[in-house]
Amino acid sequence: MNPRYRYNQYGGLANRCFQPLSHLSRKNRVELLKQRGHYKQKRRADAIQFRRVIVDLTRNIENDSINVMPKPKSTSSRRPLHALIGVTGSIAAYKSAELVRLLQTAGWDVTVIMTRAATEFVGELTFRTLTRKPVGLDMFGPREEWKPEHIAYAEQADLFVIAPCTANVMAKLAHGLADDLLSCSALACPVPLILAPAMNDHMWRHAATRANLRTLLQRGVRIVNPGNGDLACGRKGEGRMADPKVILNEIFRTAKSTRGKRTKS
Ligand SMILES: Cc1cc2nc3c(=O)[nH]c(=O)nc-3n(C[C@H](O)[C@H](O)[C@H](O)COP(=O)(O)O)c2cc1C
Repeated sequence: MNPRYRYNQYGGLANRCFQPLSHLSRKNRVELLKQRGHYKQKRRADAIQFRRVIVDLTRNIENDSINVMPKPKSTSSRRPLHALIGVTGSIAAYKSAELVRLLQTAGWDVTVIMTRAATEFVGELTFRTLTRKPVGLDMFGPREEWKPEHIAYAEQADLFVIAPCTANVMAKLAHGLADDLLSCSALACPVPLILAPAMNDHMWRHAATRANLRTLLQRGVRIVNPGNGDLACGRKGEGRMADPKVILNEIFRTAKSTRGKRTKS
């Protein structure tokens, strides 16, 4: 056969230069046409086979529990905002669980850090289960990562909320003390800080607490003031932690006004 008319594997002219077949002898023309038909059939068979493989593969992926494809992380292209929630030793600690749920419902990623005293009021298991991740408790506990925990927390957060915030933690923050994971993370975390104080009314009105509050406000810390009502100590007065929904609104307001910005507070 004339090499100028050789067909490639898909039935196209290999030399891309079309020559009328009438120039060929009858025998060569027949041979060429046969060859072309053969490749066309082969191409169709290949396509059918390919389609079958794809259908089988899709079926396997759907039926198998094995994750072949990565799950989409979020419907939005933006990563979810991440809140660090600090829980301290107040009877109001149980309300933090509701705050965590509200934030999660709003699409936030939440990590919880508790003080030792907080675990006297609510179990760490509650927050571990709600957030589906470990709760920060110990500065010196065993860790898989090389990075100290308070630094790792500081790097991932967009907002730091301490709710409830005891008189003790307010005082520590006002003076820059960092003797546990929560206070240390708060110092190391250059993101907006929101406190929701909760305490007995005398504690709330105490000159030391007022002074600490002023210091914190001057530094740009946002305070969700406690409400009036029945206190855990049996008294009535100002000191009850604000309702989780009120705290949530402050979180939204802060996030809206400071998104992406890191602060000194
Ligand atoms: C039943 C009970 C309720 C308490 N509630 C509060 C409170 O609402 N606010 C507060 O500042 N301290 C409260 N305290 C005292 C704190 O638990 C205590 O100061 C503790 O050391 C705080 O530790 P933390 O600030 O590291 O969490 C309470 C203590 C008890 C026993």
